[in-house]
Amino acid sequence: MCGVSALILADTKQPAVAEIQESLGLLQHRGQDAAGIVTCGPKGRLYQCKGNGMVRDVFTPPRLLGLIGCMGVGHVRYPTAGTPANSEAQPFYVNSPYGIVMGHNGNLTNTAELKRFLDHDAHRHINTDSDSELLLNIFAYHLQKTDKFRISEEDIFRAITNLYEQCHGAYACAGMIAGFGIMGFRDPFGIRPLVFGRRKSSSGDGYDYMFASESIVLDSLDFTDIRDVNPGEAIIVSKHAVTTRQLVPNPTLSPCIFEYVYFARPDSIIDGVSVYNARLEMGIKLANKIRRTLGDKSDIDVVIPVPDTSRAAALQLSQELGLMYREGFNKNRYVGRTFIMPGQEMRRKNVKRKLNAMTAEFKDKNVLIVDDSIVRGTTSEQIVQMARDAGAKKVYFASAAPAIRYPNVYGIDMPCTAELVAFDRNETEISSAIGADLVIFQDKEDLIDSCRKYNPDITQFDTSVFDGRYVTSDVTKEYLDELEAARSDGAKNKHNPRAEEVIGLHNILQA
Ligand SMILES: *[C@@H]1O[C@H](CO)[C@@H](O)[C@H](O)[C@H]1NC(C)=O
Ligand SMILES: *[C@@H]1O[C@H](CO)[C@@H](O)[C@H](O)[C@H]1NC(C)=O
Repeated sequence: MCGVSALILADTKQPAVAEIQESLGLLQHRGQDAAGIVTCGPKGRLYQCKGNGMVRDVFTPPRLLGLIGCMGVGHVRYPTAGTPANSEAQPFYVNSPYGIVMGHNGNLTNTAELKRFLDHDAHRHINTDSDSELLLNIFAYHLQKTDKFRISEEDIFRAITNLYEQCHGAYACAGMIAGFGIMGFRDPFGIRPLVFGRRKSSSGDGYDYMFASESIVLDSLDFTDIRDVNPGEAIIVSKHAVTTRQLVPNPTLSPCIFEYVYFARPDSIIDGVSVYNARLEMGIKLANKIRRTLGDKSDIDVVIPVPDTSRAAALQLSQELGLMYREGFNKNRYVGRTFIMPGQEMRRKNVKRKLNAMTAEFKDKNVLIVDDSIVRGTTSEQIVQMARDAGAKKVYFASAAPAIRYPNVYGIDMPCTAELVAFDRNETEISSAIGADLVIFQDKEDLIDSCRKYNPDITQFDTSVFDGRYVTSDVTKEYLDELEAARSDGAKNKHNPRAEEVIGLHNILQA
């Protein structure tokens, strides 16, 4: 997953960089691998600072001072298959035409085709394995065709329309054209989130405008009139005007349901659905499932969440079942999320460093541990073991999301399917794989209802990791097979020999 933002201030004498940096800090949970900011100063000159690491490590005060100008684009990135640790961080830049900067969240599904097109037909050089660089170059190619001395909003809309026709998959983008303004657009299914807002300028004259992956950013920076960018819609904010255009007629909004389950901050609202409320509702639905599975009188003594994401669901679940809720695991909050650390070995070490079980809450009890989801199962297995080591009699393990059995092609860094604990296993087998007495999964329909409850207008979610149904119709068996090969840990390490070292170093610094 990645996070993007773009800001333009009405007062052209004010620097945008401090708030862009702040926005990336607020989006840090979406990616901890690399961060970058590009600003545009007087005379349309661009200034950039990008690097591997956390936001606070990449943007040191002296570096920020160099990023002048009243508008800019920011990006945080997580490690993905095929992106070497030392590959360029985003946002990406092309000098022709006009000087374009772009940050992208998501993953394209027809990269091979786009690569061929850019090479054979467009004759544009691609310097990395990043699909975001392809996206930017497709946009640049179409904008180039206008062949004008100065472009207008119409030209940009036309280029994005062409991009929509050519690029498949998930993309929420924040971009900037040197000396012109910023823009944001979302793929025709709106798979990844993007919001837009404005606030009165500090000079009192006009408005500042901002795009961000999550509403929490705009909230924190005192923006108002916050709204989602619609699927297939583009918004351009020049120095003089805001122009919005629905470029894809009648799109079907299909947001990624995993944003609500795990990725997004609970205090964000995505496509009209409060992430926190959706998680509470997941707890109620999961409680009902547990009642259906274990009967009204289960032998559960206490409900314990795996911090942090599952807290909301676990609390609501415990109330629904009339059971005690206890914080049995303590978290060392200065270690990164294990889910996005590359390589199996590092993941192993991380779980124990991340969590500690408080014996008193487990000793001689039947515990129900609640997590947001189960991916590889290695974390769950160690958590179950910790509970047993702390003296638990029985360990039930409930997941607020259904079993994950299929790869994600829209930008979530899931392991290859063979590494998913639920792949080719039924619930009994998963229980024994993670060492639990019983594992209980949310039903898919219940998960969908938990989110839809807060916006019934959403008729479809991307639930592909649970059911293998991809909302873009171009995801073929061959495509998935190729993805699989690229994603195995072996391939990751081959691409990325230093990743372990680099990530390890960060953890040491943060511990
Ligand atoms: C993005 O898609 C390309 C192929 O289309 C693939 O090589 C790459 O691994 C994908 N990245 C992620 C994070 O899924
Ligand atoms: C799960 O699979 C095992 C075989 O490995 C089988 O014995 C068992 O009946 C299955 N359980 C369910 C609930 O289907």
